[in-house]
Amino acid sequence: MSSGPAGPATRTTGNPQASELISHLGPADLESQLRRDALRGLTAAKKSIPSKWFYDHKGSMLFDQITRLPEYYLTRSERQILRERAAAIVEKTQAKTMVELGCGLSEKTRVLLDAFQRRGSLTTFVPFDVDGEVLKMAAVELVKRYPEVEVQGIVGDFEQHLGSIEVPGRSLVIFLGSTIGNLNPSERASLLSQLNSSLKPGDWLLLGVDLVKDTATLEAAYNDSSGISAAFNLNMLSVLNARLDANFDVGGFEHVARFNPATEQMEMFLRATRPQKVRLNTLALDIRFGRGEMMHTEISAKFRRSGLESELRASGMEPEFWWTDSGGSFALSLSRKPGGNKAQQKTSYGD
Ligand code: SAH
Ligand code: TRP
Repeated sequence: MSSGPAGPATRTTGNPQASELISHLGPADLESQLRRDALRGLTAAKKSIPSKWFYDHKGSMLFDQITRLPEYYLTRSERQILRERAAAIVEKTQAKTMVELGCGLSEKTRVLLDAFQRRGSLTTFVPFDVDGEVLKMAAVELVKRYPEVEVQGIVGDFEQHLGSIEVPGRSLVIFLGSTIGNLNPSERASLLSQLNSSLKPGDWLLLGVDLVKDTATLEAAYNDSSGISAAFNLNMLSVLNARLDANFDVGGFEHVARFNPATEQMEMFLRATRPQKVRLNTLALDIRFGRGEMMHTEISAKFRRSGLESELRASGMEPEFWWTDSGGSFALSLSRKPGGNKAQQKTSYGD
């Protein structure tokens, strides 16, 4: 990726083993953005709140539990593909730098880092996440396991701060967990084209996406029997209570997750189980919920190969490989920004 406007950022070298953390989102930025999003979303005719606000520390830890649920096949399927294809990814990309958007704990990423370690080509890893605490946890672990790799964490919003990532040498951006599916089509188009313009010709993008499948399997993955998905969704209300001095009664809402076959996306809501009034002191705002009223919290789009590859091409990227797990549940798509050193290009499609 090329250098872009750095913007105001704070830099700390807290870790003795040379892991560096750059922050584009201090507590004041987070607060003012959440205030704006909440005011807009909660006063609209159809209430909603953007999904990035799920991820305070508790939200990140709940998501980590989701990844281990029997119903949540996404993480296991993606890890299987990574295991099968890590060597090919290292060989095709020859990356010196890997950037991970929405890294969370970067746990699956170790499969790739291990493969790079065997081959020794990677010098820098840039984990990027909106939650600074999960990022620090990831960085501490990574520095221990991969002492030869320089870890440069970035706390930021991938919809706002991509231009600030400065990456020397051949780079590979990875965006796993089907997090791209949490954006709507126009947000995806804008993220992909921003990514494309910050990449150098010959750089690579590895996207992990969940695929369209039967409704029962999809709905079970977002509504597990042990109630962790519900707790994750409901944690949004605790985030609003803590950060906006609000008084949502978490017990007055329930988790709703359903597949919309027309748009091929999972849609998550919090439904008021009784009429209620909520005060948000920081916004000097009172809002009302009728019984059964739904507040939208997240979409999770499910993809087909042709659709995803058209989105990639529309952004200027060239899809080169498409790999799925043995059950055909999940896919990894590896694409390249055209131009640059042709010698590295593959000769067969989709092996
Ligand atoms: N990559 C991990 C985690 C996926 S969960 C995995 O595949 O298991 C989604 C992650 O994206 C969370 O860690 C969340 O904090 C982060 N995230 C969500 N919205 C974001 C945004 N707008 N900018 C940066 N990170 C974001
Ligand atoms: N990025 C995750 C996904 O789309 C988020 C997620 C998993 C989620 N389970 C959830 C969001 C339950 C809300 C409720 O798969």
